[in-house]
Amino acid sequence: MSEKGLQGKMEKEDVLILAIESSCDETAAAVVKNGREVLSNIISSQIALHTLYGGVVPEIASRKHIEKINQVIEEALKEAGVTLQDINAIAVTYGPGLVGALLVGVSTAKAISLASGIPLIGVHHIEGHISANYIENKELEPPFICLVVSGGHSHLVAVRDYGEYEILGRTRDDAAGEAFDKVARAIGLGYPGGPKIDKVSKEGNPDAIHFPRAKVVDAVYDFSFSGLKSAVLNYLNSCEMKGIEICQADVAASFQKAVVDVLVEHSMQAVKEYGLNKFAIAGGVASNSSLRVALAKECAARKIAFYHPSPIFCTDNAAMIGVAGYYEYCKGVRHGYDLNAVPNLRLGERI
Ligand code: KG4
Ligand code: ZN
Repeated sequence: MSEKGLQGKMEKEDVLILAIESSCDETAAAVVKNGREVLSNIISSQIALHTLYGGVVPEIASRKHIEKINQVIEEALKEAGVTLQDINAIAVTYGPGLVGALLVGVSTAKAISLASGIPLIGVHHIEGHISANYIENKELEPPFICLVVSGGHSHLVAVRDYGEYEILGRTRDDAAGEAFDKVARAIGLGYPGGPKIDKVSKEGNPDAIHFPRAKVVDAVYDFSFSGLKSAVLNYLNSCEMKGIEICQADVAASFQKAVVDVLVEHSMQAVKEYGLNKFAIAGGVASNSSLRVALAKECAARKIAFYHPSPIFCTDNAAMIGVAGYYEYCKGVRHGYDLNAVPNLRLGERI
């Protein structure tokens, strides 16, 4: 076959990525076709296990990943109706995250790659979260602004191109999801706090208590949530000392409003300054109903297209890693067997 003919054939061929994610408490595997079509998305969640301890216990997470990972990968291939022979590349989250947890996914991906000869691609976890937006929004293409809010991260990012990011702002202390989890624990809602605060807030008055909206001097896009968390704790202590019974729903709704106000304000400022008419959200906190409603309203008022993944693609999953892995694959990125877990991997950094 001539080179042109071969190229034509290559272009028509589908690219299938087997993706693996194990950076925190979800053991996940997926098969993604041509970067946008999810053929399978298997998630084994450890939430019930960690709920007993009020948060993720890293050692337990790693051990559970080891127990589950092969089963989850087999299921992902089976559900997609493919075998390893059909797979073009194996994409795996190599950071950021819990080192022991990441190592399970990275080692498994390396072992499969070595045994099968299928190329290996390391993917940044946050790049995965951002890429989750491509799954259900086929028309979405960079450039756009993305707010990434999860249990471990709060980033405001300008997505310049596939795999090209400029971090405009990040949290100086707690991540947004972390603040949700800590406040939920303090008001007796338990773990994981985000979905519980979201639910109970619907019964509360968001203007009942005024909690602070923190600004970081000289860094307009940075976030700080630890002051807000302390303000909630101080309020609870003061009520206890005065013998006042707290209204859980009002505290939850007022706290949630303080977080949402800051996230929305920073996001809209970035959209305006960078002159982009597309805005997306990603990460576990992107499932928050109040945040979605507020952002949808503000984007509509500015004639900005608002994108958000379904909740199943907001939480940690491997489909999003397969999407990000596909664009890395197209760029020719391949990792060697020296690929290691990088717990503090920065967005845009390639190791
Ligand atoms: O992205 P994710 O699944 O894991 C990380 O990469 O961290 O995010 C988990 C975080 C948790 O802190 C959880 O409480 C929060 O997302 N979360 C929510 C909601 N659903 C999950 N926070 C607020 N509202 C929600 N509906
Ligand atoms: Zn995540």
